[in-house]
Amino acid sequence: MEVDKEHLIMRNVTSEDAKNLLTFLYKVSDETQNLTFSSSDLSISVEDETRFLSKASKEQTFIIAEYKGIIIGTTQLIIPLRERVKRTASMAISVLQAYWGEGVSTRLIENILERAVILGIKKINLKVRSDNTRAIKFYEKYNFKREGETSRMFYIDTSWVSGTYYGLEL
Ligand SMILES: CC(C)(COP(=O)(O)OP(=O)(O)OC[C@H]1O[C@@H](n2cnc3c(N)ncnc32)[C@H](O)[C@@H]1OP(=O)(O)O)[C@@H](O)C(=O)NCCC(=O)NCCS
Repeated sequence: MEVDKEHLIMRNVTSEDAKNLLTFLYKVSDETQNLTFSSSDLSISVEDETRFLSKASKEQTFIIAEYKGIIIGTTQLIIPLRERVKRTASMAISVLQAYWGEGVSTRLIENILERAVILGIKKINLKVRSDNTRAIKFYEKYNFKREGETSRMFYIDTSWVSGTYYGLEL
């Protein structure tokens, strides 16, 4: 679906996004098998999601792409608390399939990388299905370096799917 950039908003999540975010998560998780969860794993109440988002909102680690009032993409930094690892983060990103190829993730990643720098993150680590070429091209475009392979990242329909580790030093 063509995205009119004038109506594409990047913003921090708020706890009021809980209901719409759950709707987004149910949709995005069933559109591909590229995420670590499907909708059947989502038994999150709006109250639990509100609590989680309230924390993410304070920490400014969660960015939403909103288009004409609908959440169409998200990105998140997950930052561990402990001293030895608190300057690293893992990152997640996803966009509704109808909006792929329209530069939505480009806007999301540019915002979250800027945020990571502000938060003092020096390394972003992530794992991607080795056959998710779209995401791999995307990460490589942003200078993420391939750091290794894992033979068993996902178990789907009785088969194992391998994964690739990517990292970006900031
Ligand atoms: C991967 C994903 C986040 C890309 O989002 P998107 O909004 O379509 O990406 P953009 O339109 O901003 O494109 C950014 C870059 O991604 C890559 N890309 C996008 N579409 C592509 C395609 N069809 N083939 C190969 N690379 C592609 C390109 O590097 C592109 O940059 P370019 O336009 O300069 O060539 C999106 O496909 C998605 O949400 N997939 C499902 C969830 C997922 O796989 N998340 C990652 C899990 S680790």
